[in-house]
Amino acid sequence: MANKRLNITMDGPAGSGKSTVSKLIAKRLGYKYIDTGAMYRAVAIRSHELNISPDDDTGLEQLCKTVKVEFVDGKITVDGRDVSVEIRTPLADGLASVVSSRAPIREAMIALQREMAQVGGVVMEGRDIGTVVLPDADLKFYITASPEVRGERRHKERLAKGEESDLNQVIESIRERDKRDSDRKLSPLKPAVDARIVDTTGLAILDVVDTVLREIEEYKN
Ligand code: DC
Repeated sequence: MANKRLNITMDGPAGSGKSTVSKLIAKRLGYKYIDTGAMYRAVAIRSHELNISPDDDTGLEQLCKTVKVEFVDGKITVDGRDVSVEIRTPLADGLASVVSSRAPIREAMIALQREMAQVGGVVMEGRDIGTVVLPDADLKFYITASPEVRGERRHKERLAKGEESDLNQVIESIRERDKRDSDRKLSPLKPAVDARIVDTTGLAILDVVDTVLREIEEYKN
């Protein structure tokens, strides 16, 4: 058991710190880090580029038959093109939020995510990984924080990048996205029944990483 390569799921809302935590945990364990939000963002950008409306299920199905979403050397590509920067724009935020609620897109991405986890040794981050994508994962975490704290983190990130940002607006848009992600029929945002809940409000991210690593070590032994 001590040397078994586990599959670990990290779900939670935007701005909870789960990306930073997931990346650091994967690095410490020598596991593969898979950001499923980036996959939805990449496919959303491609559908937009091809003028496929989010309501056009047939168009989305056709796209999913051929689209190639891949992680290459820490970058994400869609049909061979590096979209690592493009997926982080406000336009991509909006497109991904809409496109990720469409059944053909979810089916295709979920199948791809399961394939990526087949060999074991992955830290997979998203919204529905513990509930839908990998219900039999070895260890499941649900990372969360209050909307105010998450808003403040996003706000600071934007200012650090030299972008304009209004804290109240950021918090409001986080609340809206939470609601959309939690209310949707397909794969709503919620903790798996067997997930370990980690509330990062008031905690430094590195302390969260230590807590999660300790739980993983306890599980392995
Ligand atoms: O985590 P993120 O903000 O990069 O995710 C982008 C969008 O994709 C967001 O609207 C939530 C959605 N998403 C999803 O529906 N299921 C996942 N497993 C990951 C992300």
